[in-house]
Amino acid sequence: MADMIQVNTSVYHAQAPRREDFTLQFSDKAITELEDILTHYPNKKAAILPALWIAQREYGGTITSQALGEVAIRLNRSYAEIEGVATYYTMYNVSESPGKNKIEVCTCIVCMAQGGYRLLDLIKKKLGVGPGETTADGLFTIEEVECLNACDRAPIMQIGPEYYGPVTETLFDEIIQKLKASSESTVIQQADEIVKVQISDQSK
Ligand code: FES
Repeated sequence: MADMIQVNTSVYHAQAPRREDFTLQFSDKAITELEDILTHYPNKKAAILPALWIAQREYGGTITSQALGEVAIRLNRSYAEIEGVATYYTMYNVSESPGKNKIEVCTCIVCMAQGGYRLLDLIKKKLGVGPGETTADGLFTIEEVECLNACDRAPIMQIGPEYYGPVTETLFDEIIQKLKASSESTVIQQADEIVKVQISDQSK
């Protein structure tokens, strides 16, 4: 994961940050992907969402202040604009210490009626953490989210690119065991898969 560097970002609310204040860390692969994506949009502003997915993958699963600055520089937007987008959507991680796996639990109307809050209680019992918290071993971050658009599988949770539902205690235990045994970060997997879809979809 990238080193955390403290930057006074308040001076960049109206303009793109200066390159010398940030260490650009995108890999050659990421730069090529961003260049590809930019050819499919009318302007750089329109590419903020896919650029943030690239940043989330490149910065080890989280969008740090450095990552926000890098996206702002590469898209020639202000830091405040990029930060505003990244913090608006729950799918981006802006925590400096996210878990390797983010468990997103839907508690919107259908999932709520089908046990969404019971699922959150179960997670608290099993992992000892609730929404907005990360387990001490750094493996899991819990997030309560709005409708995941899979109401027929309520109560549902999303982990990385995978949807699971209806979630029972048995299924939950199986998923957790599988994730504990894996060396992969589902947060990074999800970002990588979305970037790939962006490139392939737009080149059709
Ligand atoms: S209400 Fe939970 S997926 Fe729609």
